[in-house]
Amino acid sequence: MDKWISISRISLILFACSIARPCWAQEQDVVDYATTQSHDPAARLEQRIEKGAVKLSWDDKLGYLPSLLKALRIPESSQMLVFSKTSFQRNRISPHNPRALYFRDDVYVGYVNGGEVLEVSAVDPKLGAVFYTLPQKKDKARLGRMGDECMICHEGNLTENVPGHMVRSVYSDLFGQPILSAGTTRVTHSTPIHDRWGGWYVTGKSGRQVHMGNQVADEDKPEALDRAKGTNIVDVSGRFDASGYLRPTSDIVALMVLEHQTQMDNLITKAGYGVMAALRDQKVMNQALGRPADFVSESTPGRIKSACEPLVKYMLFADEVKLTDPIEGVSGFTQEFSQEGPRDGKGRCLRELDLKTRLFKYPCSYMIYSESFEGLPKLAKEYIYQRLWEILTGQDQSRPYARLSVEDRAAVREILKETKRDLPVYWK
Ligand code: HEC
Repeated sequence: MDKWISISRISLILFACSIARPCWAQEQDVVDYATTQSHDPAARLEQRIEKGAVKLSWDDKLGYLPSLLKALRIPESSQMLVFSKTSFQRNRISPHNPRALYFRDDVYVGYVNGGEVLEVSAVDPKLGAVFYTLPQKKDKARLGRMGDECMICHEGNLTENVPGHMVRSVYSDLFGQPILSAGTTRVTHSTPIHDRWGGWYVTGKSGRQVHMGNQVADEDKPEALDRAKGTNIVDVSGRFDASGYLRPTSDIVALMVLEHQTQMDNLITKAGYGVMAALRDQKVMNQALGRPADFVSESTPGRIKSACEPLVKYMLFADEVKLTDPIEGVSGFTQEFSQEGPRDGKGRCLRELDLKTRLFKYPCSYMIYSESFEGLPKLAKEYIYQRLWEILTGQDQSRPYARLSVEDRAAVREILKETKRDLPVYWK
């Protein structure tokens, strides 16, 4: 017993070190993260709870989970199940007791069956991801903001070094312990399906595209994981006691959207931090050298570019992995996710899924409508809209965007023109 505890403690330390925050990340100093009031869906809900405008209701089996999801308007169909001990309430997580995650565009909820708290993170346009817990104790339904307990993992090289979100794929042993010596993968929409979902349950089909989900690895030869055995599974309810969950599903499409979205969160936040830092430094230099306040430093345009270009590239799915067989979910997430607009005059919408050769039908992220994108500094948005215009009109035919067909570019341009209100005049 003791041996197990000490092994698991050592691996937690190794795991935390493998993703801990770097000490050189000075761009973070542009926001006073810890003390700034957050404007995010969880903060707004907490204010409404405080005022008595909302009361979360208690469920004897699931605690505040159903009521919290409803209050945050998160669909149950987004449920995903992770069984590797890779997160906060890790001691309770295992293949027999997976952790459930739920999400929508700007807020995420984590639930561990028997856990002491519900975990919540939400996105503030300036700060990035902000973390909360809600005690699973009857009559204690309050969201409390968290700090280093969460940031130790949620601000580091897995999150572009800003407060953010991530998805990991690991070789998990029988107990849910990640076998770190076998390597781990940080998953985004660019990750090959072959490397995804180690440590997760996955319900849905991916044809001949095998993945690491639904399987545990042998500690002695983790690479021998039988991927085919865990692929195209539509029912995992027999593998754990599903009565402690809202649904017996861990939807494959929800997972793929989550993997796209978490990295969008990070890159949007990083672009904001980078541009704010460039402007802060320019201001300091101008003051020191007695230059006019609006003098543009030589380095500023380059810094804006390096802060924003990775976001442009990612939001246009430049490096997205190609699907070779159709993907099919089971929870209804596919239908529910696409229903929300906005739509253009032809009924087209950036949330429409393709799932045959790529994740979405139109290669521009729906996160362009998010509060975090809309809240980016003015200079960041000017840069991004200019670049989108160059790429979508075909003026920029450079390598990263070579995969965007003439039709793709035109469709995205037209959809944005009709649905995005703050585009510069040259777009009209
Ligand atoms: C030991 C590292 C670690 C700590 C500490 C941690 N998390 Fe996480 N968290 C993860 C990982 C890794 C994931 C990705 C899914 C997984 O493996 O469980 C994640 C995922 C999440 C998600 C889903 C969104 C996403 O990023 O994928 C939420 C919500 C979340 N964590 C909340 C919290 C909160 C709240 C705290 C602090 C109370 C916290 N986490 C502390 C590692 C951690």
